[in-house]
Order: sequence, then structure tokens, then C-alpha cells
Amino acid sequence: MASSLLLAAARSARLRDAITALPPTRSVVDRFVAGEDLDAALRTVRDLTRHGLRVTLDHLGEDTTERAQADATRDAYLRLFDRLAADGLADGAEASVKLSALGRALPGDGASIALDNALAVAAAAHRGGMTVTLDMEDHTTVDSTLAVLGKLRAEFPSTGVAIQAMLRRTEGDLRDLVHEGSRVRLVKGAYAEPPSVAYQAKADVDRAYVRALRLLMEGDGYPMVASHDPRMLDIAKALAVRAGRAPGGHEFQMLYGIRTGEQRRLAAAGETMRVYVPYGVDWYGYFTRRLAERPANLAFFLRSLVSR
Ligand code: FDA
Repeated sequence: MASSLLLAAARSARLRDAITALPPTRSVVDRFVAGEDLDAALRTVRDLTRHGLRVTLDHLGEDTTERAQADATRDAYLRLFDRLAADGLADGAEASVKLSALGRALPGDGASIALDNALAVAAAAHRGGMTVTLDMEDHTTVDSTLAVLGKLRAEFPSTGVAIQAMLRRTEGDLRDLVHEGSRVRLVKGAYAEPPSVAYQAKADVDRAYVRALRLLMEGDGYPMVASHDPRMLDIAKALAVRAGRAPGGHEFQMLYGIRTGEQRRLAAAGETMRVYVPYGVDWYGYFTRRLAERPANLAFFLRSLVSR
């Protein structure tokens, strides 16, 4: 109940303005967001890479309603790649991109604006020897995200995509995506979705995640196992062995600030471990989804408000 209210709140501009204005919000946000500017993000990248971790950077933003904002997001990614290269941090680095931040929902030609911006971002990543993965937003956007993925992959075959196990359509999508060279980030799914399109119970989502893992590990692509769930990680490791995957043939991914010790432990054990590093001022939607995932996060946030 609390989590569906929070997921609805994640889309409310009025709540966003109220919550982001509260001074104590900042310290709780810092747990999940690397900072509001590029310098802060790069400090975090340096720290993570010192611990043997790889990164995927998300310049925060979503549901863009103005063309100028969509183009500014594109330019923020171009600056990010320049700085990663200039600071010697490009090796193995990746960016995560939301098509809604690049203009997909703009009236009229939003789809082609988002595609052009995504092509510019992927081209800049490619020039710097880096990769891009498309985040997946709510279920209404899956077809358009996969269509953009196809166009990006035609020019930049290393472009990856996040796929949500909770969606009933996912196994079908994966059968089209498990070919050689494809990079698929498997997540459980962070959006409030109706029962007609998505499993609702955690046990059903977990079972769907395992079925999807099996398809990915037995396929010819590069699986990116994005979960903090110890059970899913163990099953992924076992399936990789059973499928005869060579070391380095898949990777694990977790979000910045969640199970940091486990991130370092996996990297130290020789696994490829990538941390999703969000940065920027537009952190409200991302932050609210993290609160929705775990009641303890919400309790911590509420305590910080009343203990002022
Ligand atoms: P689950 O929610 O079952 O959590 C397992 C355990 O992990 C919990 O018991 C707790 O210990 C820990 N944990 C999980 N979430 C936590 C939190 N917020 N705070 C503290 N502890 C937490 N989703 C999406 O819809 N589209 C996308 O593009 C992406 N992209 C993405 C990239 C990466 C790298 C990751 C790791 C995740 C995403 N997600 C996503 C989010 C994903 O869909 C999912 O909501 C979260 O990963 C939580 O699911 P878990 O698999 O961790 O399992």
C-alpha cells in the first residue's frame, strides 16, 4: 500500500516541489544519489573504481516536458563522457539513459527527438570507448524503447537495455534479445504496474526473474544481473556455471548506496560488479522509487523529517 502510494507520488510535480524544498531531505537523498553536479559524480566514480568496481552513470531526469530540457540532458551526457575521458575514468565506464529524459513524451515529434538525442549520446560514448544502456520506464514505453534500441544497435552494437522481470511480456522480449552481442540488464521492475501487464506478488516477480535469468544465461548475449537480492545473485552464479559461461561472460549490477559491502565483496571475489551512479538535481523520481522499494527507507526518511 505504502509503496504504491509512493510510486504514484513519484509522478506528482506538486509533491516533488514540496518534498525537495524540505531541508532534511538532502541527507537522506545523499545515501542514494552521488551529488547534484558532475564533479560530485566523478568523485564517486573515482572512489568506486579504487575498490575495483565499474560504473554506469545516470544523469538524473525523466518525464521531460520541454525541448530545451531534453537537449540539455543530451549535452549533460556529452560533457560526462568528455570528463570521464579527460580524468582517465573512461575505461569500462557506461552511461544509463532514460528516453523520457531525452524528450520521448514531447508533443508531436517527441519520439524522433528522443531518438536523435539517444544517437548523439551513443555516438559520443562510442568515440570515448564507453557504452550506453537504455533504462526501462513504465510498461507503456517498452515498445518504443525496444524500437530505439534496435536503431541504436544498428550503429552501436554494444548498446544495452534494461528489461523488467515483473512484466508478463518479458520472456517473449528476451527470446528476441538473447542473441550474440546483446547486452541485457535484468531488473525486477520499479514502477507501479497493473495486474493485467505485471506480476504483483514478490514471489511471482522472483520466479519470473529466475526464468528470465535462465534464458539470458543460456543465450548468446552478455547478461547484466541487476539485483541486490542475495537469492537471485546465487541463482545467477549457479546458472552461469551450468550454462558453461566463461569468466567475464556476465556481470552483476547494483545501485549506488545499496549493499555497498556486498558490491565490494563481489568485486574482490573476481566478479565484474558495476554500480549505477545517479547524479544531478532532478533526483525526486529516482529517490521516491528507492523509498518505495523498502519500508525501512521510508521510515528513515520520515524520522529525519520529525527529528529536525
Ligand atoms: P528486492 O526488491 O527483492 O530487494 C532485495 C534486497 O535488496 C532487499 O531485501 C534489500 O536488502 C535490498 N534492497 C533492495 N532495494 C533496496 C532499497 N531501495 N534500499 C535499500 N535496500 C534495498 N528498474 C526499472 O524499472 N527500470 C530500470 O531501468 C532499472 N534500472 C536498474 C539498474 C540497476 C543497476 C539496478 C540494480 C536496478 C535497476 N532498477 C530498474 C530497479 C529494479 O527494478 C528494482 O526495483 C530494484 O533493484 C530492487 O529490486 P531487487 O532486485 O534488488 O530485489
